[in-house]
Amino acid sequence: MHKLIINGGKKLEGEITVSGAKNSAVALIPAALLCDESVTLANVPNISDVDALEDILRHLNAKIERNDNGELHISSDTIVNKKIDKKSAKRLRASYYFMGALLGKYKKCEMCFPGGCSIGTRPIDLHLKGFESLGATITEDGENFKIEADELKGAKIYLDFASVGATINIMFAAVKATGTTIINNAAKEPEIVNVATYLNNMGAKISGAGTKKIKIEGVPYLHSCFHEVIPDRIEAGTYEIIGAACSDRLKINGIIPEHLEALHNKLKEMNVNITVEDDNAVIVESGDLKPTNVTTEVYPGFATDLQQVIASLMTQANGESEIHETIWENRFQNLYELKKMGAKVKIDGERAYIKGKTKLTGTEIYATDLRAGAGLVVAGLLAEGTTVIDNADLILRGYEGIVEKLRGVGADITLE
Ligand code: EPZ
Repeated sequence: MHKLIINGGKKLEGEITVSGAKNSAVALIPAALLCDESVTLANVPNISDVDALEDILRHLNAKIERNDNGELHISSDTIVNKKIDKKSAKRLRASYYFMGALLGKYKKCEMCFPGGCSIGTRPIDLHLKGFESLGATITEDGENFKIEADELKGAKIYLDFASVGATINIMFAAVKATGTTIINNAAKEPEIVNVATYLNNMGAKISGAGTKKIKIEGVPYLHSCFHEVIPDRIEAGTYEIIGAACSDRLKINGIIPEHLEALHNKLKEMNVNITVEDDNAVIVESGDLKPTNVTTEVYPGFATDLQQVIASLMTQANGESEIHETIWENRFQNLYELKKMGAKVKIDGERAYIKGKTKLTGTEIYATDLRAGAGLVVAGLLAEGTTVIDNADLILRGYEGIVEKLRGVGADITLE
């Protein structure tokens, strides 16, 4: 296991460019196997979650190559539809996208329950109900799932919750089904739009992505395509928060500002000196920070994936901030680590209260999950002295070149 070691208190200055979105890439890669020819994906982030998915594709006999531009070329004409074992499935949450993709292409998938960060119970009932509505039968044996169908037929599906994963997985299973599928109360995240555009680039007929009603007219064949992963809004937001916490002047390049509106709104409320332009944001050292209240919501609301990151900034606001986490029931583990650094934190069920301004002091802390880890990086950069973040591999799952990017703007951070 790696550790991140940060000597805090440095003022950061310079530019950081955002990589491709993890949560798009992890859906686009499994979906390559839906294609009947080959796909080329550009702007794929170099992160361990992507490595894990490539390994599963190789296990299924797909051919994968990375070219000099960092593009991923995946050809699936050699695929053999084998069971995805426990070890591979457990490496990440997004292994569940092989369920929809294999079902959509071969009408059959056998795999173990997916892994992923421990931020809640993380059921997949909505995915499975969606598959059943399309005509699949599901056999569960402990953690093993067999999902199969003689024929997949378009259906009207209402999601009880606008789940990102279920929306994408149902699109995968429906894209080659006969007839028309409607997903009502679909998730609207930008990653959904990126995935739908990708499938449409292959010849799929999907409309309404980005709204709560998605229509999928099944097609028999999907052809080659070139597709670009959108910029990672969570990575962008993380660096913006780092800028707010400890920059002289930090410019974050390659963002899509519309994807970050809820965060920008909160940063402005906190008195952060941020200027947003067409594809970048500049954060200049701010005066006194004000406290704020954040409620996590589905897109376009405040992203749960940025909640743990902004928590560290809240320790520097003068007064009490409140976080209401409505998506995941176990996403305050970072706060126990922040406490060890001197933060004044109270947790009450779905709500947490952070009282500032407090001086943070470096100590040994533990990344319990990916975004918790990102929040601790913010805290480490802010803190006086040395912070050692154990279990840093979780951070590397979602942040391409985080050490290099931060060192490039003056941070004293090393990976050991
Ligand atoms: C995606 O997870 C992201 N992961 C998460 O990011 C993100 O936090 C989440 O969306 C919400 O934005 C990936 O894209 C790989 P959901 P996902 O299905 O799709 C409940 C990160 O740090 N639910 O939208 O798994 C569920 O329990 C990760 O990058 C069901 O009840 O999230 C949760 O309360 C962490 N049944 C809510 O819906 C289901 O079948 C949202 O989950 C599915 C979900």
